[in-house]
Amino acid sequence: MNYLFAPMEGITYAAFRSFHHDFFPGASEYFTPFIAPDSRGSFKQKYLKEMTDGIPSVPQLLVNQAGAFNATALKLYDLGFREINLNVGCPSGTVYAKHKGAGMLRDLDSLSRTLDAVFEQAERCGYRISVKTRMGDHSTAEFPEILAVYNRFPLSRLIIHARCRDDFYQGTPDVQGFWEAMKCSKSPVVYNGDIRSGADLNELMKMAVPEAVMIGRGAVANPALFRELTGGEKLRAEELQVFLDGLAEVWLTGGLSLPFTLERMKTLWIYMKDLFPEEEKKTRAILKSKSFGEYRAAVSELLREKDILT
Ligand SMILES: Cc1cc2nc3c(=O)[nH]c(=O)nc-3n(C[C@H](O)[C@H](O)[C@H](O)COP(=O)(O)O)c2cc1C
Repeated sequence: MNYLFAPMEGITYAAFRSFHHDFFPGASEYFTPFIAPDSRGSFKQKYLKEMTDGIPSVPQLLVNQAGAFNATALKLYDLGFREINLNVGCPSGTVYAKHKGAGMLRDLDSLSRTLDAVFEQAERCGYRISVKTRMGDHSTAEFPEILAVYNRFPLSRLIIHARCRDDFYQGTPDVQGFWEAMKCSKSPVVYNGDIRSGADLNELMKMAVPEAVMIGRGAVANPALFRELTGGEKLRAEELQVFLDGLAEVWLTGGLSLPFTLERMKTLWIYMKDLFPEEEKKTRAILKSKSFGEYRAAVSELLREKDILT
């Protein structure tokens, strides 16, 4: 089984990915948060910096026009990337309204035409295309029709977030539907959705054993999750403290201001607080901290006298 770190806009930026990769083993690849090029395939320079993390990463594009996809893919090819991922899952209202992300599922003929042109160039130039998709717009029962489109193309992998767009990030993933899809897909399939522990993974595998599992929120909450899933040690409080201090340092030395670094650290704690269900008061103090000093004191207060966390 391979483990992939999911793209998470606002969190899994290049510095996070490479620091996590060096600190906690277990994830074989990291998918970048989406790049959203304009209709000519131009994108901000900051995205290029964002791509160069020195670890096995797959860049992801949020775009619905083949021309823009292809122009961006060539630039990424020149940077050395050999797989480009298309985002067909982002549920955000503004993205959906522009028929991008999960909005691409609203018109399967158009999705099919886009993929035709995307594959035409990819095959000519020699790079792979993968797709990260939702299982439907309003219901996961739409997936057989969607899969019929994907099955027309030699996707290097089909990453399925086992929810429909209407679910956003709530509700229970449709593992049964995923299993049906896995049986019918012509491409290797990756499972995504709500894996937070070894127990969650075992539950999934009672039903389906995919080629790989992609994990997002669970791995942000417990940065040692991939290590644990691959047979390594459980997360210890002391190393979590060192990891968080190191990550803040990387962001600060990379030029991020103290207030922005504090906001990023607090964003991580939106997920990490789930590791401490009994410590609501202390995790709330972290999330409410107004200065870096306050933040560090609150984290130390939480982790003090703790040992193994998961
Ligand atoms: C804050 C946040 C940012 C996300 N950013 C992206 C993104 O840039 N591209 C993408 O394909 N999915 C994105 N996702 C979705 C995740 O990659 C993943 O599909 C989803 O969270 C379900 O997996 P999980 O339960 O393991 O987190 C994001 C999710 C969250 C919560």
